[in-house]
Amino acid sequence: MSEKREQWGSKFGMLMAAAGSAIGLGNIWRFPYITGKYGGAVFVLTYLIVVCLIGLSLMMAEQAIGRAGKSDAVGSLLKLGGKKWSIVGWMGFIVAFIILSYYAVIAGWTLAYFCASVDVFGSLLQGAAQGKAADLFGSFVANQYYCIAFLLTVMFVTATIVYRGIAKGVEASCKILMPTLFVILLMLVVRAVTLPGASKGISFYLKPDFAKLTAEGILAAIGQAFYSLSLAMGIMIVYGSYFTEDTSIPRSACTISLLDTSVAFLAGLVIFPSALAFGIEPNAGVALTFITLPSVFAQMPAGMLFSAGFFMLLFIAALTSCISLFEVAVAFGIDHLGFERKKSTVVMAILITLLGIPSALSVGGHFPKICGMDCLDFFDYVTNNLIMPIGGILLTIFAGWVWTEGAKAELTNHGKYDFKLYKVWLFICRIVAPIAIFVILAADIYGKFFKK
Ligand code: PFF
Repeated sequence: MSEKREQWGSKFGMLMAAAGSAIGLGNIWRFPYITGKYGGAVFVLTYLIVVCLIGLSLMMAEQAIGRAGKSDAVGSLLKLGGKKWSIVGWMGFIVAFIILSYYAVIAGWTLAYFCASVDVFGSLLQGAAQGKAADLFGSFVANQYYCIAFLLTVMFVTATIVYRGIAKGVEASCKILMPTLFVILLMLVVRAVTLPGASKGISFYLKPDFAKLTAEGILAAIGQAFYSLSLAMGIMIVYGSYFTEDTSIPRSACTISLLDTSVAFLAGLVIFPSALAFGIEPNAGVALTFITLPSVFAQMPAGMLFSAGFFMLLFIAALTSCISLFEVAVAFGIDHLGFERKKSTVVMAILITLLGIPSALSVGGHFPKICGMDCLDFFDYVTNNLIMPIGGILLTIFAGWVWTEGAKAELTNHGKYDFKLYKVWLFICRIVAPIAIFVILAADIYGKFFKK
């Protein structure tokens, strides 16, 4: 435990790697589809409030815990809070394990869409130009062999990278890929908002209808904020443990959150104007992004180039997130189950792939529904709407009430920096976040299981 810990090569590289974990399918696939499901603009507004109030504070708390504990989530919490707090780290491991199992399935879809963009499996864009994007998606997910083959490919690539060590590769590639993704996204925004009929989508996305606000929607916003910012599952604790002593945690947390939120916001600004312009329902669920984007690409000059470039970058963004999720599982195997790195990589890869198979089969209807949901939706729901909010409550309580002085020292770099909003941060961690998350969680559970 006392050996010198690896640190990031540069501050920019560190920010890009943390942004690489945060920016992924959560921003471009999940954010728009959840926004569509919970009523559009009102969800966007709730989401922004949740990120500023709760997400940002929790990210600071996690990075502080990591830099002080110099270990993964279980190790850091054990060191700073004792055995009972290390349970929160265990919860993080379980969440990361389940999320990766279905995340790799969707990462596989992005890879398939890259191949389809360059006509490997017949022309995606030709089909989309004839208004058949939804049928194409349906027939792709109905083919269980394709879905499993892509899941295996993603898990194989992820495991190979983690097996070989990630520090340099991840940091170096994120520095180039993340800015490129951003630029392509900006171009797509310009195309989407200038499509004929885009205005309906813009107002769905930006004009709130408060009648659509529900406890389930607010809880989903909290879950989405945690998911998108890679919170409540130990990742930011691990990344914080690699921070140098002079990194300002409040500043880096703000930068990562701002980058992450901008990408999600821009993704929505592509998806909704285009979806409504092409007559696609904004509440189309998990398929939304995969149906909408090909329709946009089909309408663009050099659409094939944009489509291939975009899905490739999305795949890479997903891969950097897969790697960080997989690292949580592998590090857990090494630190707490006594495995060597090699063994941990292989065992975890096999277990996660096996758990991913039902998700891969479920969207095409080849697996029985669980509680009325596809297996993929079910895993997503349980982790985001149940376990992560509980993890968030516990972590903010830990930072706000139990490890207060230690947190203050980390957030101010032992008094070297002035963190003007420290009192606000403390108030949020002590009162606002735990109570708000608890009330919303209780209201949602009550509404779901007891009312009727
Ligand atoms: N934040 C990632 C995304 O938005 O796609 C998903 C994720 C990655 C969650 C890594 C958690 C994590 F540890």
